[in-house]
Amino acid sequence: MKNIENMPKIELHVHIEGTLEAKTVLAKIEQKQLNFDPMYLEKLSKPPVFTSLSDFLKDYYKNMAVLENQQDFFDLAWNHLKNAKKQNVIYTEIFFDPQPHIKRGIHLDDVIDGLYQALEKAEKELDLKAKLIMCFLKDESVDEALNILDMSKLAIENKKIVGIGFDSNEIENWAAIFKPVVDKARNLGLNVTTHAAENSFEQDPIEVINILNPDRIDHGLYIHKSLEALKLVKEKEIHLSLCPLPNFYSKAWLDPKTFPIQVFLDNDISFSINSDDPAYFGPTTLNDNYLLVNQNNKISEEKWKNLLLKTLNSTFTNTEEKEYLK
Ligand code: HPA
Ligand code: ZN
Repeated sequence: MKNIENMPKIELHVHIEGTLEAKTVLAKIEQKQLNFDPMYLEKLSKPPVFTSLSDFLKDYYKNMAVLENQQDFFDLAWNHLKNAKKQNVIYTEIFFDPQPHIKRGIHLDDVIDGLYQALEKAEKELDLKAKLIMCFLKDESVDEALNILDMSKLAIENKKIVGIGFDSNEIENWAAIFKPVVDKARNLGLNVTTHAAENSFEQDPIEVINILNPDRIDHGLYIHKSLEALKLVKEKEIHLSLCPLPNFYSKAWLDPKTFPIQVFLDNDISFSINSDDPAYFGPTTLNDNYLLVNQNNKISEEKWKNLLLKTLNSTFTNTEEKEYLK
C-alpha cells in the first residue's frame, strides 16, 4: 500500500485531553496567569519522555488545569478535528474524561457542550463525522461514575454521547467493581468500550470480557499472548483499537517494529490503528502510526480496505450513517 497517508481512516481511540499540545498548555498558563511550578514549565517546553503509563497520566491530569470553560473545550476539540481531517479521517469517536474536570469545579455541561459544538462544526465545515464517548477512571470511585451518568441523561437523550469507556490506571478487580456502571449505561442505550491488556495483563482480559461484555477493547495488545483470550475476542467479535506508537512511548511495548499486528491479522480479528494521546506520545500523528504498521507488516490495499470496513461495523454510529460512510 503506497498511499497510506491519503487512505480514508476511522479513528476510535483518541482522548481529547490527550490532544492538548504542550505549546497550548504553556500559552494558556501565561494568558490565564495560572500557578504552575517553574520546573514543570521547563519540562513542558522539552519533548515529553515518560517512564510508564502512570508517569504519563500525572502530566495528562496536571495539564488539564488550563481547560476552564466551554470555549477551552471547543478550541481543544476543533483543533483536534482539523488535524484529524489532515490525516484523512472520515469518522471518529472521541473519548473525554469528565471526572478530573468536574473535580476542578467545571460544569459537566460546559465540557460536553464545548466539545459537541466543535463536532457539529466539523460535520458542517469539514465533512467529518465525530461522536463522543464518556470515559470513567478505573482508579476513581464507582459512585462518582454512576452520578455522572445521572448528570448526563439529557446529553445522552440528545445523542451527544454514544458510549462509555474506562481508562486511567487499573486497580485490582476493577471490572467487577465497575459492572454497575456498565449495566446502567446499557440501560441508557449506550455502547461500551474499555481500556484493557494495555501493559500486560493488569486484569486478565478474559475476566474483563466475561464481566463487562464490552463491544470493543481499547489497546488490548497483550491479548496476543493468550490463545484463549484471542479466541474469545474473535468469537464475540470484539474490536481492538490498537495504538502502536503510544504503547512504545508509554513503555508498554518496547520495540515498535515488533508490535504484534500479525497475530491479530492471522486470527482475522477486527482492529483499528489509533493515536490515543497524540500530543503526549511522541508527539505523533495518526498517520505516523499507520506508516509504522504499514512498514512492518505486509498489508495490501485490499486488506486495509477490509480492516476499514470491519472498523466501520464496530463504530457506535447508526446503520444509516454506516451506509453513508461506505
Ligand atoms: N490508557 C489509560 N488511560 C488513559 C490513556 C491510556 O492510554 N490515555 C488517557 N487516559
Ligand atoms: Zn487510551
